[in-house]
Amino acid sequence: MEEVLPERIFPSLVALFIVVWVILFIWLFNVLYLEPNKIRLKLQRQGIKGPPPAFVMGNIHEMKRIMSMAADAPRSETHLPLGFSTSTTFPYFTQWTKRYGGTFTFALGNAQVLHVTDTKLVKEINLSKTLDLGKPSYLQEDRGPLLGKGLITSNGAVWLHQRKTIAPQLFMDKVKGNLNIMVEFVSDLVNSWLGLIELGRGSADIRVDDYIRSFTSTLISKMMFGSHYSKGVELFPKCRALMKDLQTPTILKGIPFFRYLPTKENQDVRRLEKEIYASLIDIVKEHPETAFDKMAQIIIESAKTGELGTSTPDQYIVDNYKDVYLAGFEVTVVATLWACLYAEVLEVCGGHVLDTNMLGKMKLMVIQEVLRLYLGVAFVSRQALKDVKLGDILVPKGVNIWIWIPVLHQDPELFANGISGACKSPNAYIPFGIGTQMCLGQNLAITEMKILFTIILSHFSLSLSPNYNHSPRLNLLLEPEYGVNLIIIKI
Ligand code: HEM
Ligand SMILES: *[C@@H]1O[C@H](CO)[C@@H](O)[C@H](O)[C@H]1NC(C)=O
Repeated sequence: MEEVLPERIFPSLVALFIVVWVILFIWLFNVLYLEPNKIRLKLQRQGIKGPPPAFVMGNIHEMKRIMSMAADAPRSETHLPLGFSTSTTFPYFTQWTKRYGGTFTFALGNAQVLHVTDTKLVKEINLSKTLDLGKPSYLQEDRGPLLGKGLITSNGAVWLHQRKTIAPQLFMDKVKGNLNIMVEFVSDLVNSWLGLIELGRGSADIRVDDYIRSFTSTLISKMMFGSHYSKGVELFPKCRALMKDLQTPTILKGIPFFRYLPTKENQDVRRLEKEIYASLIDIVKEHPETAFDKMAQIIIESAKTGELGTSTPDQYIVDNYKDVYLAGFEVTVVATLWACLYAEVLEVCGGHVLDTNMLGKMKLMVIQEVLRLYLGVAFVSRQALKDVKLGDILVPKGVNIWIWIPVLHQDPELFANGISGACKSPNAYIPFGIGTQMCLGQNLAITEMKILFTIILSHFSLSLSPNYNHSPRLNLLLEPEYGVNLIIIKI
């Protein structure tokens, strides 16, 4: 037998090493430079311009620069009663819109984004039925610990299977089945506020955040876990901690592969992700009786059949719980908190006793108006999974589409008379998104807010507390940074 000598292996190892490096280099060059460039050119040829990107970083540094300049500039007054202005929150988009028009393209790292505020394009996307217009792939990378591969981030056959499973659980008849739970909860809330008012001799300064959070989290937990809902409620503080850790998307941090670095933040994220996974699996596996209740059972059953993609059944179950939890919880909380302020601004309640009919009408208007002006969600996002034709534009495969909701919603021409202007341009009012992937919880969210305000406003008058500090802040959502304090008086 011939002996393999080290001297003969070594040169071939070196050769292999060089080949691997060359392939890696070509691959990186393609992913970071050639591909994004090709996509930009395709858009440019159709007249879509945008700020020139830097190698690897795209426009992230420029966004940071514009942001810090805007932070130094004196704050401009807004036309809103409790102002939130798009030009202070997203100064780079305002600048680029001035320079390139509402439809322009920019780059976050090597991800190309098509920025859209044109209602014609919104309409095209709304009417498009193709699954080739899906969720951006950076969501699973960037938001993985929070959303996994559940309904909010998935595409194609996997998404369809999840959507068909979960949608019927949020239809109006299911929402109506939970009216009693909602009324019961708000009645408890009224009693605890009455207690505080009594202690405060007629009025109380209340930070309403935790009450609202408790309302939405209890409700969604009951809808998912039925009688074992308290196990679900226990998960919310962890979910919130996770959201806090992930509040600046790594895609905006401008450090490639940031999420793989062993920072304290990233370690926290990993720990919380594991704990939430373990708790959810524990609820499902150790308490099989919960599984025969409510939405939990439906999701578990759906993990046995149908397209799960690359997920294991356990992973699929956990991810879909997390997605419904988060969609159903925090977005509604933020909208409701803004609504508390806005109800006060509009003086809907202002001490007047309104008859129920009038209250009903005004509340829906207030809710719609809040969702117009203070929507927690800033963008509707999509990605072209193949080349997709939208009206006159051919969106090349890989391009992400961001529809900038606040600019549509604050267009003074479209909404000259507030929300009633929505009839004039239905394509400009999109608080629950558009088209195939539109929000599944719309009925639930509006019902929750209506019940909450009907009961609260029939007992109390609300006004802004001197302890309220107005500071809309964009984290994952656009939220009141310091919470909401209200002076509450019994009527
Ligand atoms: C005021 C409260 C809410 C607002 C403003 C809101 C808004 C949105 C928006 C803008 C989207 C993205 C839609 C798109 O990409 O076109 C969305 C998706 C979603 N929402 Fe809501 N939402 C709210 C409450 C809820 C509630 C209570 C639930 C129920 C549990 C829920 C479940 C979902 C789900 C499951 C999706 C993903 C749908 C899919 O990708 O197929 N949302 N929501
Ligand atoms: C989206 O299309 C539906 C009809 O399919 C329509 O009722 C709705 O107003 C449209 N929304 C937008 C924002 O264009």
